[in-house]
Amino acid sequence: MNLVFLGAPGAGKGTQAEYICRHFGIISISTGNIIREALKNGTELGLKAKTYMDAGGLVPDEIVIDIIKERLAQDDCKDGFILDGFPRTVPQAVALDKMGVVIDKVIEIFVPDEKITERMSGRRVCEVCGASYHIEYKPPKNGETCDNDGGHLIQRKDDAPETVKERLRVYHEQTEPLKGYYEEQGKLYIVEGQEDIKDTTRYTVEVLEN
Ligand code: AP5
Ligand code: ZN
Repeated sequence: MNLVFLGAPGAGKGTQAEYICRHFGIISISTGNIIREALKNGTELGLKAKTYMDAGGLVPDEIVIDIIKERLAQDDCKDGFILDGFPRTVPQAVALDKMGVVIDKVIEIFVPDEKITERMSGRRVCEVCGASYHIEYKPPKNGETCDNDGGHLIQRKDDAPETVKERLRVYHEQTEPLKGYYEEQGKLYIVEGQEDIKDTTRYTVEVLEN
């Protein structure tokens, strides 16, 4: 099963992708995580992406398309995957179709803008593995460090309120048109993001099993 998870920044795509990929035994690929990893390692890709990302804008299509092409060629993708945060523009979706990648379903996790800002201010990510937490809704087990590796939890630079505003603007302008694109292909399903993370997972599983 090959899936795309759409949704505004902070709607909970990453959180849901983590649970859903475990449920179905597939892998989850986040272009955001790949780029952040490159940034941390100071690679050429990371340096190129940094200015766009820090400002809340999208990294140019050519760069992200190359990243995905390379990632999907790897062996662990053959049993199915979730693309979390890709495609983000219509040209990226067209490129994915041209690669011959067949997407079965596209899930939009829908959360209104007002709620997003609140969620983002409480998000913390692990400095080591990138795992994502929320100080109130998804705290780490010991309340302080990463469950996976004890890593230090930090706030993402692009989670600053002003930058979140810009990311939302970019989402509505450049990513939302993808809903029409996938609706035409008969692949779009909308799941309303719930207050409780587990409820959203339950609704998403229902959509995917039917
Ligand atoms: P990326 O990392 O993909 O960021 P994003 O889309 O902005 O998404 P987020 O990770 O911020 O949010 P999410 O929806 O995954 O929410 P989460 O589950 O963490 O991309 C970052 C940047 O990289 C982009 O801005 C761009 O520059 C670049 N980039 C990446 N892909 C690109 C592409 N294809 N093309 C061009 N550029 C690209 O949840 C948010 C918080 O809320 C968490 O703290 C979580 O614990 C909490 N939460 C989740 N669900 C609930 C709930 N139900 N109730 C309460 N809290 C909840
Ligand atoms: Zn960690």
